[in-house]
Amino acid sequence: MSGQATDHVAALDALEVEAERAIGSARGRELLSGLRTEYLGRKAGRLTSILKALAGLGPDERRVVGARANALKTRLDELFDAAEARLEPESAAAGADLTMPSRRAWRGAKHPMTLAVERINGIFQELGFTRYVGPEAETEWHNFLALNFPPEHPAMDMHDTLYLGDGVLLRTHTSPLQIRSMLEHKPPIRILCGGMCYRKDPFDASHAPAFWQIEGLAVDEGITFVDLKATLTVYARRMFTPTTKVRFRPSFFPFTEPSGEMDVGCQICGGAGCATCKHTGWVELLGCGMVHPRVLENCGIDSERYTGWAFGMGPGRTAQQLYGINNIRLQYESDMRLSDQFVDAE
Ligand code: PHE
Repeated sequence: MSGQATDHVAALDALEVEAERAIGSARGRELLSGLRTEYLGRKAGRLTSILKALAGLGPDERRVVGARANALKTRLDELFDAAEARLEPESAAAGADLTMPSRRAWRGAKHPMTLAVERINGIFQELGFTRYVGPEAETEWHNFLALNFPPEHPAMDMHDTLYLGDGVLLRTHTSPLQIRSMLEHKPPIRILCGGMCYRKDPFDASHAPAFWQIEGLAVDEGITFVDLKATLTVYARRMFTPTTKVRFRPSFFPFTEPSGEMDVGCQICGGAGCATCKHTGWVELLGCGMVHPRVLENCGIDSERYTGWAFGMGPGRTAQQLYGINNIRLQYESDMRLSDQFVDAE
């Protein structure tokens, strides 16, 4: 090969190295198209100029240098195409309205019931209560008999309770956890437990066949009704507002004596009366009472030495008061339009 042909091949080699580096570092569509013209432009492209110079070579040399030049052209075309493809997303952004607010990433939200349960747990934790858990499938003894329900009590009827078999049922309340915790631990006891309970109730605005309950129990020497009232009042004021009104009304449960119900001033209307509080200004939040001595004895606790108090509540009521959800049924249907409203809650 003549010196001229060798020079051409060397020039092509150098051009390849230079072009590769330039394409590799070119940012932006305009720069790339400028480079394409610089190297491959039909009139004054650098590769084109070399091709044009081939006219001065002999046929054999022209074939060798021509083949090398064509291979380089194909290679540079590929490099330009690949570099442009990499720019694609940037070019889409170039046409977009950059002042448009970004689309909010979809985030899951905690269900209002979960939020209420977490707050209840948090407050009782601060008050020194320990979490306790137990089974949803219970014995009739834990769910009723040990809690001082007389054997003929209507709650034990198949009509109200979901039986799984002889003497085994789905717990109708969380009170059997009082029994389990007292059998398991010696006083002093301060526990809080929660979970699903089941009753053969119709599913309507204020009833659900499966529902959440939270239970609290305190057993120690010298515990009185004052402890019950004070603790639950503090609880209600931490849950709602420091000035929330509470009232205790007498009630009846087989496992507490005396028994009561605690109402709070309706948070929705501020006590003025609304549909949620049925125009009374008050909503019932929980059932409570002093643990019946017979229940303590059923768990092997000396009722002469120890006393206790307990409460049970449906956290759905609390969620309703906190978040203004007026239909209990909404809380047990998994409609994400409900929970989606709580994305920013806690
Ligand atoms: N277990 C009762 C209920 O389901 C609530 C309750 C619990 C009442 C503890 C008093 C003490 O209605």
